Amino acid sequence: MTPRCSGASVAARLVVGLSGLSIAFCLVSGIAAPASALDFTAEERRRILRHGPWPPPLRPDPSNRVSSKPAAIAFGRSLFFDPRLSVSGTVSCATCHQPDRAWTDGLPRSRGQRAVDRNAPGLFNLRFNRWFGWDGAQDTLWAQNLRPLLDGREMGLGPGGAARLVRSDRQLSCGYRRAFGAAPGTDDERIFVDLGKALAAFLETQVTARTPFDDFRDALAGGDAAGQARYPAAAKRGLRLFVGRGNCALCHFGPTFTNGEFADAGVPHFVDPGRVDPGRHGGIRKLRRSPYTLLGRFNDDAQRSTAAKTRYVRLRQSNFGEFRVPGLRNVALTAPYMHAGSLGTLADVVRHYSTIDEERLHAGGERILRRLDLSAREQADLVAFLETLTERKPRREAVKKSENGACR
Ligand code: HEC
Ligand code: HEC
Repeated sequence: MTPRCSGASVAARLVVGLSGLSIAFCLVSGIAAPASALDFTAEERRRILRHGPWPPPLRPDPSNRVSSKPAAIAFGRSLFFDPRLSVSGTVSCATCHQPDRAWTDGLPRSRGQRAVDRNAPGLFNLRFNRWFGWDGAQDTLWAQNLRPLLDGREMGLGPGGAARLVRSDRQLSCGYRRAFGAAPGTDDERIFVDLGKALAAFLETQVTARTPFDDFRDALAGGDAAGQARYPAAAKRGLRLFVGRGNCALCHFGPTFTNGEFADAGVPHFVDPGRVDPGRHGGIRKLRRSPYTLLGRFNDDAQRSTAAKTRYVRLRQSNFGEFRVPGLRNVALTAPYMHAGSLGTLADVVRHYSTIDEERLHAGGERILRRLDLSAREQADLVAFLETLTERKPRREAVKKSENGACR
């Protein structure tokens, strides 16, 4: 059997005086190339530790004056489950973002009033996003929440319909008053945007719980050997690929496992034969036309402290076919994957990266993605690692009847 050699066991073996051959092997494999033992090099540790600690501090959103306010969170939660916010009265946010499906609908592409072009993402850790939507067409969570209300395929109620509903319904106008400290006024668009802000206050509370990976990461940081030993060996091998040869962590970076930006991951972006999804290119164009951005009149932060990213965004040809790098927390719960749900399982995603067609990827720029040609075991290891990014307990979230019933 190959001797397993951590730094500590090398010393131990020297003391008990094993054969010279075995000691030499340990010194080489334990320090220089730990590929067989599951000890991480100093460089690997550094890269692993950057994916934590979890959770990061949650700070209120300066562009949303009701961010983190309990009354707005309660109002936002009830709006999220309310089908009256759709033209047909049958579609709510929860139609496509179901709490017991990790806030997704399990479909490749969602259906509201009609089918849409993209996959519904899980609604987690949104406060840490810089851009919203697969194309980043929104620069705030509240603006993102308005999009389904504007899109006739999703809910389509629009500013006028939404404002009328809030003004005419006692419960909704009471919820509004509690959240915003004043009765809904006469400016339809203002009320409409405020609905997006209350929904944002609610969604910001959806931070994923700690995972087996976080326990391992903290055990590594604290030198806790027993804690490290509890993390499965396959996940450790997958993690080594993730921060190493796979190059995954260059894009899926940091505690949320995304750099927050856009990339071409070689996923085909035909919507129908002859129609393509322009991705980030279309997103920047929408962002520039939208009245609901950090540069517009609905930003509650007079200093415009976070607006620079929007002011300086540049449209480049290479944005065509780029999509936002998704965060990977709870990824095992949000199948199918990619912007149009084209890959059914995590094994499919890993196979995609393993066999990626380099010809499809953008020419020019630094090439991060390469065909990895992973063995079957390496692919399974990477999947085992991705699965450890999932919280242990299923989440339950529903409108608490008492919360809204009390408001009249
Ligand atoms: C018809 C299904 C459908 C409905 C209804 C729907 N969504 Fe979505 N949601 C999606 C899809 C699809 C996307 C991805 C959109 C894109 O990138 O173009 C999305 C994206 C989002 C995002 C962005 C997440 C991220 O990581 O950037 C948020 C937030 C969100 N929805 C909240 C809501 C809220 C709030 C409502 C109700 C007002 C709602 N959604 C209604 C399907 C839906
Ligand atoms: C160049 C940046 C980049 C690299 C490197 C990269 N990814 Fe991705 N990843 C993306 C983008 C962009 C998407 C979304 C692509 C799309 O929908 O078209 C994505 C999607 C995913 C998804 C699907 C998540 C979801 O919710 O749909 C998983 C899982 C994933 N990547 C894992 C990995 C793994 C594992 C590696 C390493 C083998 C890796 N990624 C390397 C940018 C990257």
